[in-house]
Amino acid sequence: SAEIKLAVFGRAGVGKSALVVRFLTKRFIWEYDPTLESTYRHQAVIDDESVTMEILDTAGQEEMLQREGHMRWGDGFVIVYDITDRGSFEEVLPLKSLLEEAKKPKQLTMMLVGNKADLEHARQVSTEEGERLAAELSCGFYECSACTGEGSVSEAFLELCREVRRR
Ligand code: GTP
Ligand code: MG
Repeated sequence: SAEIKLAVFGRAGVGKSALVVRFLTKRFIWEYDPTLESTYRHQAVIDDESVTMEILDTAGQEEMLQREGHMRWGDGFVIVYDITDRGSFEEVLPLKSLLEEAKKPKQLTMMLVGNKADLEHARQVSTEEGERLAAELSCGFYECSACTGEGSVSEAFLELCREVRRR
């Protein structure tokens, strides 16, 4: 069966770990634990094919060298921002450039995820801005909430797998 390596990037606190846990367990963990890094293995059936996903949940504050290694390791990437944190949205483009650099000459396969969509009252980034950025980066876009599960967190990961396999 195919093995696909996915890495999740984004500023500290955007909800990377919460999204990975939501995808793997359909649950939400409230307490904030600034993880160093964790890797999870997950079996899935995508379009009738068995796939082993290795998911690397990176730490928002990782060292430059460590980050470079993680970027080279992955086949596909999820870049996460928090819709209530404008700064996290502004970090997407620089992250994407670093990823592109790390994957050269291969083409970059990524998804853009705007998390914490349940916090509508505190929103700082509109859905349209997210869509526009994704169009600019030529990647898929999902706005969702690891907290409520709204917006299909799973679909973002599964669709990324599909794209990795198409390449
Ligand atoms: P680092 O590992 O430090 O880089 O952070 P992270 O990106 O993994 O963030 P984490 O998943 O630890 O979540 C940070 C905080 O945001 C925690 O208190 C979570 O409970 C909260 N959080 C994560 N996702 C959501 C969400 O969709 N909605 C709400 N309301 N809170 C969320
Ligand atoms: Mg984390």
